[in-house]
Amino acid sequence: MENLKGGGSNNKLGDEEKLLDEVIATPSINQQQQQLLISSRNIMKIFLLFFAVVFPSLVLYHFSSYPLQFFPNYKPVSSFVFDSNYVNITPSSHRSMAGNLLHGYNSTANVSTQGTLPSKEKKKKQKVKLEQVLEKAAMGDKTVIITALNAAWTEPNSIFDVFLKSFNVGNQTKPLLKHVVVAALDQTAYSRCLEKQLHCYALTTKGVDFSGEAHFMSEDYLKMMWRRIDFLRIVLEMGYNFIFTDADILWFRQPFAHFYPDADFQIACDHYWYDSTDLDNSPNGGFNYVKSNQRTIQFYKFWYNAREAHPGKHDQDVLNMIKFNPFIKDIGLKIRFLDTALFGGFCEPSKDLKFVCTMHANCCIGIDNKMHDLTMALDDWEKYMALPGDERMSKPQTWTVPRICG
Ligand SMILES: *[C@@H]1O[C@H](CO)[C@@H](O)[C@H](O)[C@H]1NC(C)=O
Ligand SMILES: *[C@@H]1O[C@H](CO)[C@@H](O)[C@H](O)[C@H]1NC(C)=O
Ligand SMILES: *[C@@H]1O[C@H](CO)[C@@H](O)[C@H](O)[C@H]1NC(C)=O
Repeated sequence: MENLKGGGSNNKLGDEEKLLDEVIATPSINQQQQQLLISSRNIMKIFLLFFAVVFPSLVLYHFSSYPLQFFPNYKPVSSFVFDSNYVNITPSSHRSMAGNLLHGYNSTANVSTQGTLPSKEKKKKQKVKLEQVLEKAAMGDKTVIITALNAAWTEPNSIFDVFLKSFNVGNQTKPLLKHVVVAALDQTAYSRCLEKQLHCYALTTKGVDFSGEAHFMSEDYLKMMWRRIDFLRIVLEMGYNFIFTDADILWFRQPFAHFYPDADFQIACDHYWYDSTDLDNSPNGGFNYVKSNQRTIQFYKFWYNAREAHPGKHDQDVLNMIKFNPFIKDIGLKIRFLDTALFGGFCEPSKDLKFVCTMHANCCIGIDNKMHDLTMALDDWEKYMALPGDERMSKPQTWTVPRICG
């Protein structure tokens, strides 16, 4: 991909760096306190009160004092989500060896496993590695575009390919590819990322192999989703703003002009209620633009920790539960919801291609279904771009999708 010249220097990494480890999760609330908080379901009401009133202050209290890598109670949480749309992702074979924290990745080597916990030094290396990737990928204002992929999504002629193609056929989106960071969930995804000469980071997980499709809402699926939130918080802590994008989102135009300059956390929607500040909008975690600052770091910690209070829920559900929490107001987080006319999806397709920035295969389950409709959407776009200028501008041009999805 000639457009990425100078973008990815991933191939020159030393061996040491190729032993990419997982990012270390750092829950900000003392684990014991959390256990206490959640241990008895039958006092849920009391708990909810506690959650609403006391919990936020605990979070606040704990924030400032915890640097990134020193969490004695850290338990590695497997996972990540790269699809916020309830796609079937089935766990395949699990490498279940305890203590298998290190998956050595390079495009030729087999996954290497080591039976020891990472030392502080190794954790530090992981951090350094992530920082290097972010630095190389970042735009001038320290913004990166992050997506997450596993083997199933990176198969030839699968989601990853349509994702990348959209940048190439979109209007002025090609230069954005050099700012894309792929968080690879397994070795195959990592290799595919390197092949495409993108910026690649191996986000692996103790004893879990996410290379196949994971069942929606299975335990592993949930872990994957939460892992994303935790990982993104670390990115924020490193001082980088990000646009997180699921890979089943086609990019057709640059989004920046449509973001709200004063917002901390902006998120796309499955359904949009014509008011960007209305908390009743239905956010979709598959696309969001988040600025790195104290408010967003606190928010991501709060969101991540809230999973403990809502067992069995994925990040999007929990977001819908916590978005009204006074904690959000207290920390002053400015949330905005993005209009589906610009950042649409199969749930609520944009009406006019003239305005479209992105198109998400949301409200769609299964890779094959997604591929079918995404391919049609790409086709629609290419036809639209091929129209004579006056025709393109005069009457609204619409999608032929969703067909299978929606
Ligand atoms: C990948 O790992 C294999 C086996 O450990 C090694 O022989 C090879 O040199 C590595 N490739 C690169 C590009 O470092
Ligand atoms: C990985 O290991 C298996 C079995 O040990 C071997 O058959 C295979 O060739 C290896 N793959 C690579 C890419 O080294
Ligand atoms: C592509 O972007 C340029 C610059 O923003 C704009 O002038 C042009 O109208 C766009 N084309 C389409 C089809 O949107």
